[in-house]
Amino acid sequence: MSFSTWYNRTLNRIWGYVENRTGMRKWALRPQPAFTFKPSYWTGAFVATAFLYQVVSGILLLLYYQPSVGPTLTACGQATGTLFSPAAWCSTYYIIHSIPMGSLLLSTHLYGAYAMIFLMFVHFFRGYYLGVYKAPREFSWMVGTLLMLVTLGMGFTGYLLPYTQISYNATNVGLVLAIRLPVLGPVTAPFIMGDGTPQGLLGRMFAAHVLLLPLALGALLYAHIALFESHGIAPPSTSDPTQRRRFTEKEDKEHVPFMPHIFFYMTKWALLYLGVLFGIAALWPWTLPTYVGNTAAVGVVTEPDWYFLWLFKLVDFTGITPVLAVGVGTVLALFFLFLPYLDRSKRTHPRDRPLFIFIGTTLLQFFIIMTVWGGVTPGVQIDMPTMVRTLLPMVAVNAVLVLVLHHRYQASYRRRLAARQSGLPGIYPRRTGGDTPTGTPMSTSEVNPLD
Ligand code: HEM
Repeated sequence: MSFSTWYNRTLNRIWGYVENRTGMRKWALRPQPAFTFKPSYWTGAFVATAFLYQVVSGILLLLYYQPSVGPTLTACGQATGTLFSPAAWCSTYYIIHSIPMGSLLLSTHLYGAYAMIFLMFVHFFRGYYLGVYKAPREFSWMVGTLLMLVTLGMGFTGYLLPYTQISYNATNVGLVLAIRLPVLGPVTAPFIMGDGTPQGLLGRMFAAHVLLLPLALGALLYAHIALFESHGIAPPSTSDPTQRRRFTEKEDKEHVPFMPHIFFYMTKWALLYLGVLFGIAALWPWTLPTYVGNTAAVGVVTEPDWYFLWLFKLVDFTGITPVLAVGVGTVLALFFLFLPYLDRSKRTHPRDRPLFIFIGTTLLQFFIIMTVWGGVTPGVQIDMPTMVRTLLPMVAVNAVLVLVLHHRYQASYRRRLAARQSGLPGIYPRRTGGDTPTGTPMSTSEVNPLD
């Protein structure tokens, strides 16, 4: 017997035994068609992987971190300015310099947060461009938007915890913006600020970061995955308005089971994620900026983490008050939340949604430009004409490009459709059955080749 035959047989026997004793297939997630074995179909699972690592590394950090602004007796090795540094900063310093692999742990937690937020944006924009939010996945999208807000909240509250001067300044600017939120701001302000003292604020941020927001995130994630289970994976985007967007139970039986195939497929990617994260953290460990109240510290800028830079830069524009900036943020959040009810067309292909592709592309470019701008010149005032000169050409180029490409793609699609229909029975052959009265059944092999 060759080695590979022996190997496969042994694995199958082990799996057969585990399956027999656990009945895993029954309680595992839904089977998926073979065409989904591409990372682009599992962007959400990457985010979930990143979240899991954040929970594990966060629990380990909790063993040493002290959420207190109370002074410690020494400056924890940074004998500059006052001799007393806050306990929160000092315990972070201790984690980095005295705990075995503490620097790696803290760096992977911080970079892991960046990775989670970045992957979430990838997941979000993939869904936006491919129209996965369309029926029947409207609620999946809305719960996803809430997940995004809570994840950003995790980043905001975690930023203050090391209690560095830079994070303290940025948190204060963020709070000025947050309490101006219409309706929610005045209600949440007392909960966020506590008794108004620095300790009150740090205590609230700590409680939100390690308990309230992770609980909310866990609950929302549960709902998100339950909805995903109910609908199955979204099919590839198409120009067919009658495309059926859900598999039947019968079809599911022909698909690849979650256990062990999809689970191991994802495990491979999860291990790669962890390897890259640890590699980057080992090569470029995070360095702790100076603590709040260090009288010797000069020139500390007020700068948030990268994912809030666009909002901070917005406030640097003359004429844009904090209230206006918060208004812009609120309108954007509401737009994304209710997107499934704003984009009502039944076609999911980007070629058929020029308006929403224009809006999405413009917003994406706006976020990137403002983030870079905020990172290069944080806190530098920008006058209105400069803003208009920078942003307006981008909007104009987008509009022209989307219009030109829309017509080109539609024309080429119509040509291919006509050619195909003249030679073959039709690109969307109708079958009986399915779980919707109208529409084309979606099968494993029947991904429309024209799309
Ligand atoms: C903490 C953040 C999030 C996590 C952990 C997460 C996780 C997941 C997972 C595991 C899936 C299953 C399919 C896949 O892996 O892609 C999924 C699907 C989905 N997510 Fe998320 N998600 C998050 C944020 C978001 C956001 C911000 C949105 C959009 C506003 C969103 C919208 C969706 C939709 C519409 C689906 C169904 C897509 C499909 O069937 O292909 N999610 N998400």
